[in-house]
Amino acid sequence: MAQQFGDYQLEIYLGGLAGVTPAMPMSFAELERRAEAAMAPGVWSYVAGGAGDEHTQRANVTAFEQWGLLPRMMAGAAERDLSAELFGRRLASPLFLAPVGVLGICAQDGHGDLATARAAARTGVPMVASTLSADPLEEVAKELGGTPGFFQLYTPNDRALAESLVHRAEAAGFQALVVTLDTWVTGWRPRDLATANFPMLRGKCLANYTCDPAFRARLAAPPEQDQAGVVREWATVFPNALSWADLPWLRSLTSLPLLLKGIQHPEDVRRARDGGVDGIYCSNHGGRQANGGLPAIEALPGVVAAAEGLPVLFDSGIRSGAEVVKALALGATAVGVGRPYAYGLAVGGEDGVVHVLRSLLAETDLLMAVDGYPTVADLTPAALRRLR
Ligand code: FNR
Repeated sequence: MAQQFGDYQLEIYLGGLAGVTPAMPMSFAELERRAEAAMAPGVWSYVAGGAGDEHTQRANVTAFEQWGLLPRMMAGAAERDLSAELFGRRLASPLFLAPVGVLGICAQDGHGDLATARAAARTGVPMVASTLSADPLEEVAKELGGTPGFFQLYTPNDRALAESLVHRAEAAGFQALVVTLDTWVTGWRPRDLATANFPMLRGKCLANYTCDPAFRARLAAPPEQDQAGVVREWATVFPNALSWADLPWLRSLTSLPLLLKGIQHPEDVRRARDGGVDGIYCSNHGGRQANGGLPAIEALPGVVAAAEGLPVLFDSGIRSGAEVVKALALGATAVGVGRPYAYGLAVGGEDGVVHVLRSLLAETDLLMAVDGYPTVADLTPAALRRLR
């Protein structure tokens, strides 16, 4: 029998009989409040904030309200199967941890990437580990246990460094390469601008660079002795406006499954497919990069259609099980959690991330139970109605 994620609620109610109530928040609004209190102000504004007046960021969430799941009764949903297949591997659930580049400093001990990897190990929810990390990718990989990890690449403009990062990720056991396309320059973020605060320019979360031989070869002094030199060099290698002409090179870097993140236009999906990618990652970076755009969920059906069967990963706006169910029904193969788990990390460390994931999975599972959709395959666009 597949894992029944909804049993988490039973565990909580039974705890209540012994006088135990959950230490972690049970709603996203409360999680957000507690995270703000737990994080240093600069970290909070960096994580919670987005581009412009943050309209797109908010719309990512509210756009889901335009859709509703039509319940089916007597559908035999006493047992649910939330498992999903990705790159030839069956996963217990269709959730994954989206790459978040400041996990290190979200955690109270400064090692949030490791805590997140341990939470992935405990839940079986794959982690997409960011290039921007407080601990080297090799250390993150070691904490993943049997759960797959994918490595997210911010492609530096130094090809030797890009190749080194990819080969290190392969050697460390990461099982797919996710290349993020929408962040070769930072979007206009008023919250961070108001405090002139950008973590990487303050030397945070650059461990994957400072331990990399190709990066170190660029430095005049060892990173431990010249923090300013590290930041200068990072700022030099980071911006890289890739073009489709670079895709054959990206493809040649690895035999691992290759995904492109930040895709929303069907024509870009077609170009990616023609270039031999193995999956599409539909996202608008949680509205952090470009304000005034469409909510990401609006783009999903067109991306799925153009993908013609290639796996489509989706994130941007997932806050509860309801959004997970709707993204699956609109064709996502797997659904990424972003800010919620970073908040869980700030509030409760590794246990906090586990709680956020278990809660999302439990609510997803119980929605499928109540509404009569026993498997992920039963969730199709026909299960949804669009409101005016
Ligand atoms: C991100 N995201 C991101 N994406 C990526 O490809 N590499 C990265 O290093 C980061 N870093 C990052 C930091 C922070 C603080 C946030 C909030 C997000 C984007 C992330 O993978 C995902 O697309 C969004 O988080 C989805 O939006 P929501 O659901 O979190 O609002």
